[in-house]
Amino acid sequence: QSYRVAILGATGAVGAELLELLHSRSFPLADLKLLASERSAGAKLPFGSSMLSVEAVSDRSFDNVDLVLASAGGSTSKFWAPKAVAAGAVVIDNSSAFRMDATVPLVVPEVNPEAVASHRGIIANPNCTTILMAVAVWPLHQVRPVKRIVVATYQSASGAGARAMEEMKAQARAILAGETPKTEIFPYPLAFNLFPHNTAINELGYCEEEMKMVNETRKIFGTEEIKISATCIRVPVLRAHSEAINLEFAEPFSAIEARDILKQAKGVKLVQDWQANYFPMPAEASGKDEVLVGRIRQDISHPCGLEMWLSGDQIRKGAALNAVQIAELLATKKLLQTQRAAVSK
Ligand code: A2P
Repeated sequence: QSYRVAILGATGAVGAELLELLHSRSFPLADLKLLASERSAGAKLPFGSSMLSVEAVSDRSFDNVDLVLASAGGSTSKFWAPKAVAAGAVVIDNSSAFRMDATVPLVVPEVNPEAVASHRGIIANPNCTTILMAVAVWPLHQVRPVKRIVVATYQSASGAGARAMEEMKAQARAILAGETPKTEIFPYPLAFNLFPHNTAINELGYCEEEMKMVNETRKIFGTEEIKISATCIRVPVLRAHSEAINLEFAEPFSAIEARDILKQAKGVKLVQDWQANYFPMPAEASGKDEVLVGRIRQDISHPCGLEMWLSGDQIRKGAALNAVQIAELLATKKLLQTQRAAVSK
């Protein structure tokens, strides 16, 4: 069985990675359609050794498409995803548009793969920092439930898209040339700087990105019981995000046991050499599928606390890889056909 797939947002940073992953992981493709805005119509993008043309998304784009991988922003998804579903496709959506919708599964395949079965056409790919944290915390939570998570993120430019990555590089060149850096996508220069994540701030002082980590993690873990507090910071790194995570359990959890659990965990690579002071770094996480986890240590301020540190490729596991893994789950479980059958009834 092979599938007719469309990538909505093919010209973006995540779109490029989706193309690479569908090819390198040999996803069973009957057809691949590349969709973006009118700006990109006619552009060509590489898929393996061939070049494919990009089309402007339109009302007819989803005819005869089984699966849409969407990464073109929230408003684009809100507009096009229901149309794609009505045309019989399943949509795996990378935006935040549907994540907290109770009828939409929010899936990290290492954590809640079973959730895909309940989809009604749309499956949401979680926020990038949430995915990386979920992959690292879930295996510990399985052994002893986590009561509280306090996390600080160090988020790369790639989370704001391909143009943001170019903006940061241009800013670095400008600063090194003694010029004033330009800002268009980011509110402040990111090169040689950092700033709190620039999403809307709520009445409690938390920004949207921070609340995504709180609400999405609870939905993915299937519990409202975990207390979570996040501080999200944009840092001048190109591709991979990092996170400092403090975990509080109901009872003591030894750092050695946690290390041994994470050494075996799906989607995790343990990176910790205490002698060499060698731990996860975003430069080494870039291009890798696994979330690099290390510096797992007892929290000296709390008998039931653990500290750890991770780096993970935001474009890959934080977005495109997670979406392709969901697509693979759907294909393996034969859940792509159901949607088309439901629409044609
Ligand atoms: P385009 O390149 O034509 O603007 P990134 O997250 O890296 O910025 O990428 C965003 C992706 O979403 C791009 O592929 C972009 O296409 C696409 N996109 C943005 N707005 C729209 C829209 N209104 N309709 C379709 N695609 C869009």
